[in-house]
Amino acid sequence: MRNGVSLKRSNRQNLLRFLRYLRPHRGKLIAATVAGVLKYNLPVAFPWILKDVVDRLLTGQNSRLGLTFNELMLGALAVFLLYAVATYFRTLLADSLAQRITFDIRNDLFRHLQELPIEFFRTRHTGAIVSRVFTDVSMAQNFIGLAGTNLFMDLTCLLSITVVMFAMEPRLALVAYGTLPLFAVCHRWFRRRLRANAKEVRRRFEILEGRACEAVGGIAEIKSFTAEQEESRRFTTWAQHCLEAAVKNIRLNSFALATTAILTRVPSVVVIWVGGHFVLRQQLSVGTLMAFYAYLEMIYNPLSRLSELNIQLANSLAAIDRLFEFLDEKPQAERGVCPALYVREGKIRFQNLVFGYQPGLPVLRGIDAEVQPGQRVAIVGPSGAGKSTLVKLLVRFYEPWGGKILIDGMDIAKVDLWSLRRQIALVQQEPVLFSGTVEDNIRLGRPDATVPEIERAAELANAIEFIRRLPDGFATEIGERGARLSVGQKQRIAIARAFLKDAPVLVLDESTSSLDAPTEELIYEALERLMKNRTTLVIAHRLATVVRADCIWVLNQGQLVQTGAHAELIRDTAGLYHKLYHESLALRETWVKGASIAA
Ligand SMILES: Nc1ncnc2c1ncn2[C@@H]1O[C@H](COP(=O)(O)OP(=O)(O)OP(=O)(O)O)[C@@H](O)[C@H]1O
Ligand SMILES: [Mg+2]
Repeated sequence: MRNGVSLKRSNRQNLLRFLRYLRPHRGKLIAATVAGVLKYNLPVAFPWILKDVVDRLLTGQNSRLGLTFNELMLGALAVFLLYAVATYFRTLLADSLAQRITFDIRNDLFRHLQELPIEFFRTRHTGAIVSRVFTDVSMAQNFIGLAGTNLFMDLTCLLSITVVMFAMEPRLALVAYGTLPLFAVCHRWFRRRLRANAKEVRRRFEILEGRACEAVGGIAEIKSFTAEQEESRRFTTWAQHCLEAAVKNIRLNSFALATTAILTRVPSVVVIWVGGHFVLRQQLSVGTLMAFYAYLEMIYNPLSRLSELNIQLANSLAAIDRLFEFLDEKPQAERGVCPALYVREGKIRFQNLVFGYQPGLPVLRGIDAEVQPGQRVAIVGPSGAGKSTLVKLLVRFYEPWGGKILIDGMDIAKVDLWSLRRQIALVQQEPVLFSGTVEDNIRLGRPDATVPEIERAAELANAIEFIRRLPDGFATEIGERGARLSVGQKQRIAIARAFLKDAPVLVLDESTSSLDAPTEELIYEALERLMKNRTTLVIAHRLATVVRADCIWVLNQGQLVQTGAHAELIRDTAGLYHKLYHESLALRETWVKGASIAA
């Protein structure tokens, strides 16, 4: 119970925050509502006119307003002309308002997401995050249409029909209204069941879609294992689940349609039946009976919308809550609050650093080490030792549990986050490229770079030759995640980015994928050039990089077990480095190749 109450309160608060998005568009909202009320209420005049025509004008009497037949009909045309104008403005204003607000919220949400720490993204599915930016934003925006305008329109429309009907003939109005509650109750019941079923259908389709995506993406893998038939069989099983749910929904929907048909037609028959008797007894005019019939036709649309309003509102409110759940996530840091870091020398000190991804499972267990200005440090160690984690802490993708990192004596936790990241160029193990041109991708290193600067960076990265050979050179679209480039080309684009950024500190997570010898040499050469005159931390997989490093850190299970130069470490035959060198490093083809270059 207490839970329910507090949930409602947060609901209300979020709603108020959401309504703030409406504030700049107040005028439009009011205009849309007025247009909507007109649109829905103008047609109410027509049955009234019809009654006047049948009862008075056709029997030779004057109309109630003293108009001639032709004047009254022209009036009816005018009413519908006005109706058309109201419809135009209602749709134009309401829909563009909805799009405007979706635009505002979506931008805010995306901007906010960009500021959130990596940790936020690590613990969530990409699909779930993206779905909030699209599906939930649209559902939240629905609220404006529903509560802001539809509710108003429908209520006023129902009210005016009711007033007119009771004013015309209260007894017949009571007969007509007698069946409406049943309609409303049934309609709501069916809607609820249908919605629950539709949700299940959608859930099953999502699974099917996911499966299909995986299978299409991994088609090469499937073919190489000759698993095509097995895959198809699995797909059919899932598709069967979808089919069952869909058919169940169709059955319910057919039943709902039949019930609605009865419930909306029976009142008409009853009204004509009862009203007919009134007419025969001269207690009712034919015009009134006809008007009643017309009003009954008009009443179901607003009624059915109102009867499911609460379900739709609940959906919108839930979406609004989900939006604010993301918007309330704290960004990692605020811009311009902390002093900016300015790297003068490039001395990096790790001080008793402790960190883990999950509570109770430390990945780094007390790292104490120092990189001298301009020095090149190679980090080696078995897979899972925590090498990548260590450099992620240096760029503050994560905050340490204990200890600190100092650059030129400044604690990086206490400096402006963006100034820190601007001073460090990070070349990742698997370079991430974005769809766009080659130029766009290199420009990520420094958005305001000029074209000659970009070309120079590509040249330094040994990328210029292959870029020139591409169909459109720097303007070549590289496809989703750089799909149209080879691994070696992607790596060189990533290196070009780092050249462009020209940061005093370089962090390199060497790729483990082996390339052919000439490409390997091109990349090695480019990296050597990049490391020159910069403080460099390199997670090394190439022997050449390790051998030429000023200092080697050997990491094992989150601890630094050895430090020193290659010549020194290799002498310790009992040490991990000696073992690593002989068991894996020297065996790797790239290492051997690298060594020959280094020699
Ligand atoms: N995003 C993550 N969430 C949870 N645990 C993680 C995450 N990234 C790494 N780990 C864990 O932290 C440990 C260290 O991983 P890390 O990536 O630092 O290893 P590594 O030394 O770089 O290995 P490799 O040489 O294979 O790249 C591993 O046990 C890994 O399972
Ligand atoms: Mg790694």
